[in-house]
Amino acid sequence: MDSCLIHNYSQRIESVLDRLLPPANEQPGRLHETMRYSVLGGGKRIRPRLVYATGEVLGLDPAHLDASACAVEFIHAYSLIHDDLPAMDDDALRRGQPTAHIAFGEATAILAGDALQALAFEVIATDDSLVDAPGVRAALMATLARACGSHGMVGGQALDMDSEGKTITRDQLERLHSLKTGALLHACVMMAADCAHRISDAQRTGLDTFARRIGLAFQVRDDVLDIESSTETLGKTQGADLAHDKATYPALMGLAEAKAFAERLFDQAMEALDLFGADADPLREIAAEIVKRDH
Ligand code: IPE
Ligand code: IPE
Ligand code: MG
Ligand code: MG
Ligand code: MG
Repeated sequence: MDSCLIHNYSQRIESVLDRLLPPANEQPGRLHETMRYSVLGGGKRIRPRLVYATGEVLGLDPAHLDASACAVEFIHAYSLIHDDLPAMDDDALRRGQPTAHIAFGEATAILAGDALQALAFEVIATDDSLVDAPGVRAALMATLARACGSHGMVGGQALDMDSEGKTITRDQLERLHSLKTGALLHACVMMAADCAHRISDAQRTGLDTFARRIGLAFQVRDDVLDIESSTETLGKTQGADLAHDKATYPALMGLAEAKAFAERLFDQAMEALDLFGADADPLREIAAEIVKRDH
């Protein structure tokens, strides 16, 4: 396994994010400051790392993936700002710091989320580093837009809000989690696939299955951590799901079974990578991190 490569991706994405965000001294300063605060204030960067690691499998130059990696992290940061708002999960702590609406006020936080979403698509449409092969930009925009709209992340967030205080079926919960969290993680993998010059049907299917399984596992682990971890380790308020009576895997099937389910999803994700050789090791390493992480 190549931890060194993973470390390189982490360093790489920090500088790309910094470069593509508007400077805080550019007007409207408070809005730009909020965008930078929300994106640059830590975070595991799992989504951009998935983009680069998938590129590794497909033999792509990381420089050609910077725009995609950056765009998914902008969408993720916007989703977190809005997720934390009083009208949604009403959280005061994110990445160990006050949430955007606590630090900058609700109106600015909402607008910073809106602007980050637009910026994600602007970057895909215009960034010079992206390979300008015919159709690539449009394919990337379609993949990303589908993953974050009403049939993706936002749809999942709507189901999440609708499910508070209710008992839902296992199938309904799988759909909710696959949309609110799985869809964007899936897009990270498929956007790298969109950039590939050559990709076989078998490769695409393997990556697609991997991404679906690991995307769901990510949220199962997040649910488990809400119970098992501490506010200090998480950098967000522990027990928030219980407080809001959220529909989660531990609530539906108990903690032990939720953990076993995450392991099964991980195994299925690994199987889907069987057709790839050592080039998929960074992807395998990120998948292991997703189900073993403590925050
Ligand atoms: C948290 O995502 C929100 C969910 C989708 C569960 P991450 O756990 O990736 O958050 P950061 O980016 O590392 O803070
Ligand atoms: C958030 O799920 C999913 C999105 C932000 C789209 P959670 O509400 O469980 O995420 P955390 O626990 O607040 O990070
Ligand atoms: Mg939420
Ligand atoms: Mg939340
Ligand atoms: Mg959570």
